[in-house]
Amino acid sequence: MFSLFKKSAPKEHRAEINGEAVQVFQKETILHAALRENIDFPHSCRVGGCASCKCRLVKGTVKELTDIGYILSDDELDQGYILACQSVPTSDVTVEVDLAAQKQRKKIPGRVVLQERLTHDITHLKLQLDQALIYKAGQYVDLSLDSLPGLARSYSFATPCQMDATLSFFVRKVPGGLFSTEVNDQNLLGHTVMVDGPAGEFWLRPSDAPMILVAGGSGLAPILAILKDALDGQSHRPVTLLFGARSQQDLYRLDDIRDLALKWSAAFRFIPVLSREDENSDWTGARGRVTDVIPALSLQGSEAYLCGPPGMIDAAEAKLIEGGVKRTNIYADRFTTTRDALDAGASALAV
Ligand SMILES: Cc1cc2nc3c(=O)[nH]c(=O)nc-3n(C[C@H](O)[C@H](O)[C@H](O)COP(=O)(O)OP(=O)(O)OC[C@H]3O[C@@H](n4cnc5c(N)ncnc54)[C@H](O)[C@@H]3O)c2cc1C
Ligand code: FES
Repeated sequence: MFSLFKKSAPKEHRAEINGEAVQVFQKETILHAALRENIDFPHSCRVGGCASCKCRLVKGTVKELTDIGYILSDDELDQGYILACQSVPTSDVTVEVDLAAQKQRKKIPGRVVLQERLTHDITHLKLQLDQALIYKAGQYVDLSLDSLPGLARSYSFATPCQMDATLSFFVRKVPGGLFSTEVNDQNLLGHTVMVDGPAGEFWLRPSDAPMILVAGGSGLAPILAILKDALDGQSHRPVTLLFGARSQQDLYRLDDIRDLALKWSAAFRFIPVLSREDENSDWTGARGRVTDVIPALSLQGSEAYLCGPPGMIDAAEAKLIEGGVKRTNIYADRFTTTRDALDAGASALAV
């Protein structure tokens, strides 16, 4: 017996990744195929939220599972960048990826030596690693905990690189979030951790341009790391630091900021902005969204560093560009979560 209707063979495509050929099965992402073939392709979240798997599509076409425009810049999109974890080939493809950064990543074990509440929903987690991890202020690692086997999340360093092999992170509790709830609600002192990194391209570029820094919530972590590092490097750049929070109880590390401002050798302006502060409270500072303050700043010739939730970053970028800041002078780190990636239309939750 034979069927009248011959089954068509599943459509497979070939992906050439930095010259190495890989078979990509039907509906498979480029990242999945690369990892299956043991290519050490950079990745982290796997759901289109972190941009670690960014690569350049040199030839061919792909179907994107998520709107990648919310995480890649317009320049990157123009240059043909795609997210490998969100791209399913619709033809044979050729991609180029920077594997050098991946080679610099290390996995280092350590333990939790301090767990300190900074606000009602942000915890400072300090780790002692078995050996020092060299990183640039502004970068992040993928962190895993012994109490949550198989789960890793990205967190940005809250200090510049410390030679005593300690690392600090500010972790905000995301409602319904597995990792951040564990960090905020469970006693983790003495627990074993593993860090994998460093990663990311969010660090201070050498320049004399005035700096506009915008932090939302736990996005203050890499911003403080960058400023402390710049202070150690005796930066003379004028600084405007905007810190967005909901109410006064959500502001933290104000002593650190005051200390930075006192030691800074050029102008240092700090503007905390509260979005949900009680109208009748004693708060005399700025109110509204942190990005509302941007149009009133003197922006010409500035460089901007933005860190926090993706929505805040998109709004800040738009206002900075409107105000005359060049797109190429804006650096941003989006604290995306699984939810953000799902909202952007991700249909593949895990590889
Ligand atoms: C480069 C980078 C740096 C970062 N740095 C920091 C930092 O310094 N500090 C910080 O606080 N955060 C940071 N983040 C965010 C952090 O990595 C985590 O995403 C965050 O802590 C939430 O993790 P979680 O495990 O608690 O939440 P998850 O368990 O991942 O859940 C997140 C949200 O998605 C929802 N969700 C999960 N799965 C599903 C599903 N299947 N369907 C529907 N909804 C779902 C959850 O209910 C929750 O609301 C960073 C992110 C990136 C990409
Ligand atoms: S691994 Fe692709 S965006 Fe995070």
